[in-house]
Amino acid sequence: MKQSVLVTGATANTGKVIAEKFAKEGYDVFVCSRSGEKAAAVAEELQNTYGIFAKGYETKIFDENDVIRIFDDIRSMGYLLDCLVLCAANLGIRQEFFSVSVNAFMEVVNTNIGWNFMLARQAAMQMKEKGGGSIVFINSNTAYRAIPDRVAYSASKAGALGMMRAMALDLGKYHIRVNAVLPGMIKTDRWENNDNNCRQALSNYTPLQDIADFEDIANAAWYFGSELSKNATGAELTVDGGNMIQLYPVIPENRRN
Ligand SMILES: NC(=O)c1ccc[n+]([C@@H]2O[C@H](COP(=O)([O-])OP(=O)(O)OC[C@H]3O[C@@H](n4cnc5c(N)ncnc54)[C@H](OP(=O)(O)O)[C@@H]3O)[C@@H](O)[C@H]2O)c1
Repeated sequence: MKQSVLVTGATANTGKVIAEKFAKEGYDVFVCSRSGEKAAAVAEELQNTYGIFAKGYETKIFDENDVIRIFDDIRSMGYLLDCLVLCAANLGIRQEFFSVSVNAFMEVVNTNIGWNFMLARQAAMQMKEKGGGSIVFINSNTAYRAIPDRVAYSASKAGALGMMRAMALDLGKYHIRVNAVLPGMIKTDRWENNDNNCRQALSNYTPLQDIADFEDIANAAWYFGSELSKNATGAELTVDGGNMIQLYPVIPENRRN
């Protein structure tokens, strides 16, 4: 049976590069997106570029029957999944504390924790049957350190980290490993157009004076997803240029008053 991976949020940015990394390594790839059209297009691109089998799925967020449908389809094609990479996230941007509705807050939590739980559980059923597997959460250093107007996002990422550890404990006896990659900032379009002017402050906040490329996160996901990390479970790998360990900004001498 060929090795296979399912990647959520795989039609753009980090998720797409993660899907490409596994395809390059010879994995068959299942691509999930809220857009069936985009998922199918990326699957076709992966097949044509890497000569592997790929299939796209349109996903309904926080719908367990929909998740079961996808995993049943994967099984019906003769696969039991080896790896699940949970990259999609509701970013919960500009949720001002006093005005955010409870519904909007819960949508973020339901996606980043509840939906990921549904996906992980279905994946774990196949992995248990197969005798092992790997579940990789693309989390965030906001699980530990907050950013403004992102209360639900920060809470959901911290919650997802706790969920990762609990799953690692429950699933270890089935040789299913569960780990998390914690990016800081990644070079997406959002970064290019960042209205908090983070770009200007970059060297003041990150010891390595740079943030992550998509490939940095994809390599970390590959580490946890593959046998390279066969003895790691319940673990975190922070990939943030050192952003998380720096307590206060270091202002270059020529910019001090
Ligand atoms: N970018 C950063 O600086 C940064 C920093 C720390 C952590 N992270 C984490 O790294 C992962 C990837 O980040 P990224 O910036 O590369 O990804 P992104 O493009 O912002 O989002 C990843 C995918 O999530 C899906 N998505 C977006 N909004 C959603 C919603 N409301 N509900 C469900 N799915 C939604 C989209 O896929 P479809 O449209 O195909 O459904 C999207 O392509 C995320 O888990 C993010 O939390 C990112």
